[in-house]
Amino acid sequence: MKRAAILGTGSCLPKRTLTNAELEKMVETSDEWITVRTGIKERRIAGAGEETSKLASGAARKAMAMAGVGAEEIGLIIVGTMTCEKVMPSCACLVQKEIGAVNAFALDINAACSGFLYGMDVAEKYIKADPALKVLVIGAENLSARTNWEDRSTCILFGDGAGAVVMGGGEGERGILGSRLFADGSLWHLLHMDAAPSLNPDLVPVDYHGPFIRMAGQEVFKYAVRAMQDGVVKVLAQEDVAPESVKLVIPHQANIRILNSLTGRLGISAEKIYINVHKYGNTSAASMPIALDEANREGRLQPGDLVLFCAFGGGFTWGAAVMRW
Ligand code: UT7
Repeated sequence: MKRAAILGTGSCLPKRTLTNAELEKMVETSDEWITVRTGIKERRIAGAGEETSKLASGAARKAMAMAGVGAEEIGLIIVGTMTCEKVMPSCACLVQKEIGAVNAFALDINAACSGFLYGMDVAEKYIKADPALKVLVIGAENLSARTNWEDRSTCILFGDGAGAVVMGGGEGERGILGSRLFADGSLWHLLHMDAAPSLNPDLVPVDYHGPFIRMAGQEVFKYAVRAMQDGVVKVLAQEDVAPESVKLVIPHQANIRILNSLTGRLGISAEKIYINVHKYGNTSAASMPIALDEANREGRLQPGDLVLFCAFGGGFTWGAAVMRW
């Protein structure tokens, strides 16, 4: 049976850059604090014409061009997002219209920062059932729209952007070897974002503080380190892959200290961990496909390489996947 492989990658970032120096003028913070605690130097902020679905469509077009797959050949569109400009229709339907993928069905996945990883896993199941199917898997976010710009503990962290892949049945050994996904909804309160207030007065929550991302940073940090490591250990054991044979790790980009922690216990050397959090901050579901696209275009991936993906996000959701490029 053919494995589900990535046939092309693409990404799309807003034009405007917001630097740490600019944030120093907005809240009581410093470039030094942000750099030491997070590794972030700047992030992108969406403007007019750069809504979530537009960024997603831009990334999708680039991934299709690289894969040599036309819009009409796409059979399924999956978008990992929690910040689409519309609640209905789905971001995936807006992308379908934007790129003209008239033969696709379309759905969103909300698994916060793990949305792209969850999306790849769903795509894999469909492709195993029909290796001729071409699937667009996209991670796209406009987190700046849901950031409390007066809260220094969160506003320094997030950015906007989108990344995409085209997936389909791979040649030979190429494709996803296996993945492991997890969730723990009992910890939702440590990292969450309320929806717009209910229009039913009886259902307006008493503790509603606006539709912003709220996070218990330290607790999330500790759990993220443990959970990402655990996901990686489990998927490598499941697929009988030795850590040293992994060529490149594409992790969710939340914090440089979380990424550095992946090296120690896992036996994966630091230069194998792809990092671009300094340029874009935490773009949630978009961070892994943006990182993957950059690594791919920089020539960091060669046919036959083993690539490891790992993510952690609100929910909590987390997991890991291993793929032969
Ligand atoms: O995307 C997936 C989920 N998200 C994550 O994985 C993020 C996980 N968490 C983190 O990355 C880190 O917890 C943060 C970067 C958010 C915060 O770093 P920390 O080392 O955990 O700092 P802290 O929250 O313990 O705060 C330390 C101090 C506090 O001051 P006091 O109480 O010690 O006087 C904060 O008020 O730093 C203060 N602080 C700031 N100072 C300057 C908090 N934010 C800032 C800021 N600038 N922006």
